Amino acid sequence: MTATSPATTLVHPASPAGPWWRDAVVYQVYPRSFADGDGDGIGDLPGATTRLGHLAELGVDAVWVSPFYPSPQHDAGYDVADYRDVDPMFGVLADADAFVAEAHRHGLRVFVDLVPNHTSSEHAWFRAALAAGPRSAERDRYLFRDGRGPAGAQPPNNWRSTFGGPAWTRVTEPDGTPGQWYLHLFDETQPDLDWTNPQVRAEFEAVLRFWLDRGVDGFRIDVAHGMVKAPGLPDLPEASDDTDPRHHQGPMWDQDGVHEIYRSWRAVLDSYDGDRAMVAEAWVTPLSRLARYVRPDEVHQSFNFAFLTSRWDAAELRTVVTESLTAMDTVGATTTWVLSNHDVVRHATRLGMADPGAFGSGIGADDPQPDVELGLRRARAATLLMLGLPGSAYLYQGEELGLPEHTTLDDTERQDPVWERTGHTQKGRDGCRVPLPWEADAPAYGFSPTGASWLTQPAVFAERALDRQRGVAGSTYELYRAALARRRELAVGSGSLAWVEDLCGATSMAYLNRDLLVVANLGGEPVQVPDGYRVILRSDTADASGGSEVPADTTVWAVPLT
Ligand code: GLC
Repeated sequence: MTATSPATTLVHPASPAGPWWRDAVVYQVYPRSFADGDGDGIGDLPGATTRLGHLAELGVDAVWVSPFYPSPQHDAGYDVADYRDVDPMFGVLADADAFVAEAHRHGLRVFVDLVPNHTSSEHAWFRAALAAGPRSAERDRYLFRDGRGPAGAQPPNNWRSTFGGPAWTRVTEPDGTPGQWYLHLFDETQPDLDWTNPQVRAEFEAVLRFWLDRGVDGFRIDVAHGMVKAPGLPDLPEASDDTDPRHHQGPMWDQDGVHEIYRSWRAVLDSYDGDRAMVAEAWVTPLSRLARYVRPDEVHQSFNFAFLTSRWDAAELRTVVTESLTAMDTVGATTTWVLSNHDVVRHATRLGMADPGAFGSGIGADDPQPDVELGLRRARAATLLMLGLPGSAYLYQGEELGLPEHTTLDDTERQDPVWERTGHTQKGRDGCRVPLPWEADAPAYGFSPTGASWLTQPAVFAERALDRQRGVAGSTYELYRAALARRRELAVGSGSLAWVEDLCGATSMAYLNRDLLVVANLGGEPVQVPDGYRVILRSDTADASGGSEVPADTTVWAVPLT
């Protein structure tokens, strides 16, 4: 029997083979929690280097490494004190070179994380700015302003920090008097740079070259939608302590001037060989605005947070997939897909919450807890739904093990500045940053030779450890491996998307990508894979076993019978 031609709605045609990044699967290494080589309980580059074989075996194309630069670690390294070195906590510069070389030996590309919106307050430029005093060239690299009101005692405007609290901090001048204020969209230890200053632009182009010269394949750009602020730094109509990045609106986000920066960076990358690339972290809506970042002479890719923040809802996901592909196609860009990262509740937990669309900042022991089994089942289904889509996908370390969020972490362990800055009203992001379990029976589950771990790992990590899943039929790890292998074999990343109308309903969705049929049941009555198709992979069994029925919270991949 051959496959009947189902009624379909084409959204996106297949594309000819392009540069590697267009359909790459990129794995995020969060170095402090990936692998600890020296036993101090914090992951490091030598530790990470020894585990790169895992990523090659998993079958990803590239690695994005979160910041490892010298930093006081007030925001887990997203507060950079020196853009051209490695923090002793993570190793030395030669360890970064060794990591890149070893990744390349495994056939993996490497993105490093560039943090251009702000430096650390320990950066030499900020120290010089404090020492130099008001109206100096040193202060002009940041956003220092005089305060409002009597004696300048009020902040220059009403902006709030993304982490909670005011976005301005007042300094004490070198002569001991209360002085100017500086802007920080994040923690007060992360002063925002002034991107209208040519020195700032020149410095970051030099930083790009520094890492490109060392052989990295590209950059993940932190807060890519925040660097340029509206002239005059106008008040917000209504200032609030909303820390949800989905709501980034106002004179500090998505200003047109950012695009000039990306054009100049693109020229820098294009002057190098080897298809170097950039991916923007831009919390921008709607998708048509996001598409502006990935125009042909700007950034290559942008994280698709509309997909990440979708509810477990067939209609909503269908809309987001359609709109994402359509928006990126208008500028000839590749679409990305992502479900988890170091800033959000892990999807194996999110999808097990009573409201799986809720997008809070962390979960604590006193909050409603997830249904762990349901969360994992849905997470596996969501992953298979995602990996069948055309474009590029981003995976966050540990999701290939089905790791849940640590939802009962002791409050005394919390390090995310969000916890303090919101007066303990938001738990913050530590729960998704817990060190990985490699071996169930080893100290710290194999994360660290001494058993030290900067955050306590929950007991469930034992059963989710890599050595409990590797080679084990049905495991989440084997599901990811099989999906990535099939994805490559079937050229899914450069493929097409057409909705299969008969199989799309209130609780189900199905699409064809080239010949691959993906059927997802998001919680309704069982759906049947049509005659003429052969199931090749199921999210519940992690292989082809289990028949052609698609029960609730399950995704199935099938190909035409030949
Ligand atoms: C980005 C990072 C996040 C960090 C923030 C400030 O959103 O992903 O971890 O806290 O920028 O640098």
